[in-house]
Amino acid sequence: MRKQIAAANWKMNNTLDEGTKLLNEIVSSDMQVNDNQSVIFAVPFPFLINANQQVSNKSNMFVAAQNCHNKTSGAFTGEVSVDMLASINIHYCVVGHSERREYFSESNQTLAEKVDRCLSKSITPIFCCGEPLAIREDDIQNDYVALQLKESLFHLDGEAIQKVVIAYEPIWAIGTGKTATAAQAQEMHAHIRTVLANQFGDAVAANISILYGGSVKGANANEIFSQPDVDGGLVGGASLIANEFIQIIKALK
Ligand code: PGA
Repeated sequence: MRKQIAAANWKMNNTLDEGTKLLNEIVSSDMQVNDNQSVIFAVPFPFLINANQQVSNKSNMFVAAQNCHNKTSGAFTGEVSVDMLASINIHYCVVGHSERREYFSESNQTLAEKVDRCLSKSITPIFCCGEPLAIREDDIQNDYVALQLKESLFHLDGEAIQKVVIAYEPIWAIGTGKTATAAQAQEMHAHIRTVLANQFGDAVAANISILYGGSVKGANANEIFSQPDVDGGLVGGASLIANEFIQIIKALK
């Protein structure tokens, strides 16, 4: 059974004090996170150890890195390896967020390597895909996203792919306040599941969590998450406000 997941992506926000307070407000609230659900906080590197301690006695809550390097170690000043993440008990890592693809020129090929590095250390990659506005306007988003999946994930076998979480994030909806409609999200999620099924089989595809990202907030999470192929969300802006993110967690199936 695939998990329903609410993942917070703090991006480059919060100081240590601010982040500690935010996380504390969320983990100390009265909500119930069931065993078919996971709540994940992708926090900046300097906060990983602290955040992990804050969720350590909370069931079904985890901490994620926002990035890792595609090589195992070496002369890559300023970079962070999956070995480092594993050594501090981090079990999730966002891979290929559109901001990384755009501002740091991450290619589908590099991301395939990052996925491999993560899996080699039992770190679940939260693999992001999604089209820019011009691609959506030309109505070729299905092919665009299928190619992202093919070039970064199709080298995996049926067992390994089930250890990947996919986040569909249309770039035109990220941080813009412009959410894809629930129908648009469902349509793309169903497409992604079909692409995965064609490569890995129906049973494998049915087991993979596909999150929606792009201006998810408390007020729209219920409608988006209720779609059959939407298994939760990757949330930027609204994850920085405790009550908003709590509402989003409560909207999980
Ligand atoms: P947003 O960001 O929720 O602020 O649109 C989502 C993301 O980039 O993961």
